Amino acid sequence: MPIRKTHLERLKKEGYNPREIRAIELGTSQNTVAQVKQIRDRIREDPKLLKRFRDLSVKNREVSEDQWRKDRCFLDYNNLFKLVLDEPLYGFLVRMAQGKKKLKVLDEGAGFGLFLLDLKEMLEKEGIDTDTTAVVLKKHSLLDTYHKDGKVDHVYVGRSEFFLPDRNYDVIFSLYGGIHYTLSEFKKQILVKYASALNRGGVALIGADLIGIRTPLFEQMKIAFRKRGFEIKLFTGAIRGGLPTDILMIRRL
Ligand SMILES: C[S@@+](CC[C@H](N)C(=O)[O-])C[C@H]1O[C@@H](n2cnc3c(N)ncnc32)[C@H](O)[C@@H]1O
Repeated sequence: MPIRKTHLERLKKEGYNPREIRAIELGTSQNTVAQVKQIRDRIREDPKLLKRFRDLSVKNREVSEDQWRKDRCFLDYNNLFKLVLDEPLYGFLVRMAQGKKKLKVLDEGAGFGLFLLDLKEMLEKEGIDTDTTAVVLKKHSLLDTYHKDGKVDHVYVGRSEFFLPDRNYDVIFSLYGGIHYTLSEFKKQILVKYASALNRGGVALIGADLIGIRTPLFEQMKIAFRKRGFEIKLFTGAIRGGLPTDILMIRRL
């Protein structure tokens, strides 16, 4: 959608860069883009933060190269997220797809893309059309093959902190992805960004260690999200099998 000249001038004055302005022109909400800009601004203004962010980038790359389970699939995501959904993941997805032409799904920190591959295959067998997006720091060859074969529809390679969603999603997953690995200073922006990229009634399911959120701060966060039109629920418990202890669910009302 073309932006009015005055709006465009204001965005430039406020420091939005051409990529961010382009995203707003293409329909990404300004609130979503504003979260990315906030992270960018903070890094630019604080050299110490920039250094920590760069160091983290190296660490993230190492983590995303080898130190994690390579075979995590639909069943593993199900075993975790059913705890916060109170129902199996498959049934939840089928219900989410009702009345929709396509179910739009994002996996933030998709690894090899095995989960998205399983999800598409299972739902398409049920006659449910899906549109899947993977966000990864590094495109593994397996994910590349799935992408080329049309088994994963879209792949964004780069830091999740700077990912600008060009569509809204019905379901967003993040299991030990960028939300887990980002600096604690950016957790708020990244959570607000992904929440803002949900369709009405859409749900984000985040499996990460969220120590900073597991405190009295959570009650404040709940109120703040509620004011913005979101309901949030946190499940913290002893979960076996190398899975994170915190599961955050965000629902757009
Ligand atoms: C530990 S693996 C988890 C993969 C998969 N979700 C699973 O549970 O098996 C981490 C994934 O998150 C991605 N990742 C980590 N930090 C990221 C960041 N800052 N931005 C984008 N992707 C990131 C890595 O590229 C990798 O795909």
